[in-house]
Amino acid sequence: MIQKVVQLVQRRSIQRFSSVFVAHRNRDDNSDSVPFDFTDENYKKIEGILSKFPSNEKKSGTIPLLMLAQKQNNNFLSLSAMKKIAKILEIPEMDVFETASFYSMFNRERVGKFHLQVCGTTPCQLCGSKDIIKAIEQQLNIKNGETSADGLFTLQEVECLGACANAPMMQVNNEWVYEDLTPENTLKLLEDLKNGTDKKGPQNGRKNAEGPQGRTTLQNIANQQDIKYDRNFEAAKKEWLDQKEKERLEAEKKKQAAQQAKK
Ligand code: FES
Repeated sequence: MIQKVVQLVQRRSIQRFSSVFVAHRNRDDNSDSVPFDFTDENYKKIEGILSKFPSNEKKSGTIPLLMLAQKQNNNFLSLSAMKKIAKILEIPEMDVFETASFYSMFNRERVGKFHLQVCGTTPCQLCGSKDIIKAIEQQLNIKNGETSADGLFTLQEVECLGACANAPMMQVNNEWVYEDLTPENTLKLLEDLKNGTDKKGPQNGRKNAEGPQGRTTLQNIANQQDIKYDRNFEAAKKEWLDQKEKERLEAEKKKQAAQQAKK
């Protein structure tokens, strides 16, 4: 029975990826015997990264170096890559493993060519992220955390990626962002990604994070009929000073009246 459970867990760990398991499991393509080293170009970048920190605080370079290793290694952070980073930074390997296993942006298992990270936090969920995930799952015949049979797509639901104004959204390969998703434009996007014709940013034609009324500013009252106040700080300051002066004069008057009454 226990053996069956272990087999099941191992099988799932092959299908799923990333931070599903905190502990490392050796595989043919991910063990001590699969070497990793940075390219010369990346060693130069590492020099630049480490020059930003005091020489006794090399540990601060952990996340930038993990990002660099993952990018060099087809979006995959192998055991050897993490060990190499520990060696460069002169810190315990466990410190690097802990950082890599904490953040969902680090893939300690191989992912597909396109790593789809769909935001499932409240604003995106209210705008339909569940439908986006469902559409991807049905189209690619995978579940959240799995890779498609052709190795092209890996689906992962993640927490807020900071583009809530354009919800629902997803990020691909930690780099490109696609917003204002619907199940329909998401399926088109999957095809576009394959063909290299994808359009980044909002998928509904809006520019950046503009509201439905287009581009506006807080001082452009003509475009904002419902505006409750404007931001004329000079006028506001004058009003406040005038009010203070009025209060001071009234207080002065009362004081004089009180003194007169005493005489
Ligand atoms: S809630 Fe989805 S980007 Fe913030």
